[in-house]
Amino acid sequence: MRDVEKPLVCLAVALPDDALAGLADACELRPVAADTIASHIAEAEGLLCPAPFPVPAALLDLAPRLRVVSNFGVGFNNVDLAEMNRRGIAVCNTPGVLTDAVADLTVGMIVAASRGLVANANYVRERRWGREPVPGLGWDLRGKTLGLIGFGRIGKAVAHRARAFGMNTCFFDLFDSPGAGWDDCVYQALDALLREADVVSVHTNLTPETFHLLGEREFAQMKPSAWVINTSRGPVIDQAALTNALRERRIAGAVLDVLETEPPPADDPILTLENAVILPHIGSATVETRAAMLDLSIRNLKAVLAGEPPPECVNPEALPRALQRR
Ligand code: 8YV
Repeated sequence: MRDVEKPLVCLAVALPDDALAGLADACELRPVAADTIASHIAEAEGLLCPAPFPVPAALLDLAPRLRVVSNFGVGFNNVDLAEMNRRGIAVCNTPGVLTDAVADLTVGMIVAASRGLVANANYVRERRWGREPVPGLGWDLRGKTLGLIGFGRIGKAVAHRARAFGMNTCFFDLFDSPGAGWDDCVYQALDALLREADVVSVHTNLTPETFHLLGEREFAQMKPSAWVINTSRGPVIDQAALTNALRERRIAGAVLDVLETEPPPADDPILTLENAVILPHIGSATVETRAAMLDLSIRNLKAVLAGEPPPECVNPEALPRALQRR
């Protein structure tokens, strides 16, 4: 029998013992996965899940008591916000605490692109050694143009790091004023940014407006020497169009931490391209950052379940209903 005094929480994140113990005081926990959650969600008041965990309307139909989806991550494209507002369900996320980790990885990906780090390391692993690097000399970052698509927290943290490398930075976003302290980062319309940038790096949310923001037409505007970097969400890029552009060397290369389908199917052609380096969505994956994300996602969850405003909520308009037990 359940202790109905304690709210039931579906848990789609593996938690260390201390975090489990801290949560078990306040709620009853039900470990779930994407293919089992439907049989546990009927009584649930909370869901703690990775940011990419899909929460479709069909699942919400089975969850009349659900009051909070607490994302372990900053993204929230796994939910339809209008639908969550209609149902009075709070959506919480973990902004800020992962900004540095994602920006650090982005810079690492740019350096990997400029110096062929992966190809060269693989070359030595194959017990080979040459007088020159493979597939040829790299290129300096100093003086090159970095085009940031999205100039929010993470885009700005990347711009800050790019200064230290002597790169020139421009950005495209919904606003055109970069704000105080960013006079060296100029706004460019998307097409102008694509024509000028040596490196295009994506840092925007996935929304209906940003879905396939970069496709055939956009890759056609880029320099043949340019690289694409993506640490945001795969579907911002039309991956079939990117695969073709890379295969035909219409652009030089891509380093991607995210793909349209994760994990990718084994026969995904992008995995076979020499000029594509693919990472398994590790942007926030450091010990310190994951601990901070966990702490914030648990505080968000517990606050809503206790009827208090959470530290981070992307749809505060849902809170008046979400803070009440049903
Ligand atoms: C994941 C992310 O949440 O923050 C995000 O939006 O995509 C990542 O940090 C993390 O990989 C856990 O699944």
